[in-house]
Amino acid sequence: MAIIAVANQKGGSGKTTTAVNLAAALAELAKPVLLVDCDAQSNATFWSGIEYDDGHASMAEVLARQATVAEVARGTSFGYTIAPASTRLVEADATMAGMMARETVLKEALPQGYNWTIIDCPPSAGIVTQNALVAADYVLLPVPCDHLALEGAQQLLRTVREVRNRLNPDLDVLGIVPTFHTRRYRLANEALEMMKRLGPAVFDTNIRETVRIKEAPGSRSPLTHLPASAGSEDYRNLAKEVIRRVKERE
Ligand SMILES: Nc1ncnc2c1ncn2[C@@H]1O[C@H](COP(=O)(O)OP(=O)(O)OP(=O)(O)O)[C@@H](O)[C@H]1O
Ligand SMILES: [Mg+2]
Repeated sequence: MAIIAVANQKGGSGKTTTAVNLAAALAELAKPVLLVDCDAQSNATFWSGIEYDDGHASMAEVLARQATVAEVARGTSFGYTIAPASTRLVEADATMAGMMARETVLKEALPQGYNWTIIDCPPSAGIVTQNALVAADYVLLPVPCDHLALEGAQQLLRTVREVRNRLNPDLDVLGIVPTFHTRRYRLANEALEMMKRLGPAVFDTNIRETVRIKEAPGSRSPLTHLPASAGSEDYRNLAKEVIRRVKERE
């Protein structure tokens, strides 16, 4: 049983793409899998074919301590269960501001019994991401292969160190996942070399930048449930590498 937070405060770094497609690829290998959508943008929920803001309880109610994750969870057509987001999550920071022990709300609300729990974090280091990092055993850090993105990665690693010092000493960085990789650009390979100097291990699997990945959310189906592509291959390889790395740590 492993709980993995997919986090990076930098927007558009490939968190949701990684969370959704890793959950689907893991579900082919080691069910049951739970995907927890903690972002008000609700992209992972939409991509998983689940309606948000349709009146059902969501992670907004979980973070307001009005429901448990098991109570809001819904089955998808792709082998994993999802705890959906809703746009009401924009209020989470304000709602949680006055709560006692507000960093542990998600940890207390997560169900047992899933082999893999993947948490898609919002693009900030606020209270919602802190909840994910407190609930998680591991952080997976998607980092685009460009120089500016490395700065965002360093910020997240600082946040992880703080969470480890104050709230969750067992939190472990499972690794950096290079996203938006393209062999055509010298820049991408340079960025990859710099990533290797950030500290945590870089995954052997790079996620290639492709038009198919960009278009996939519109089909509301993970890449592994669409015709074979570089994206489905990369995320299946990532799932295998995640399983191997977690086994090595345990
Ligand atoms: N490997 C890729 N190739 C091409 N496009 C990609 C790839 N990965 C992600 N994208 C696209 O880049 C955009 C940002 O990706 P994604 O939503 O996964 O990032 P994010 O970190 O979750 O963003 P946010 O911080 O807003 O939550 C999306 O339009 C997505 O479809
Ligand atoms: Mg996202």
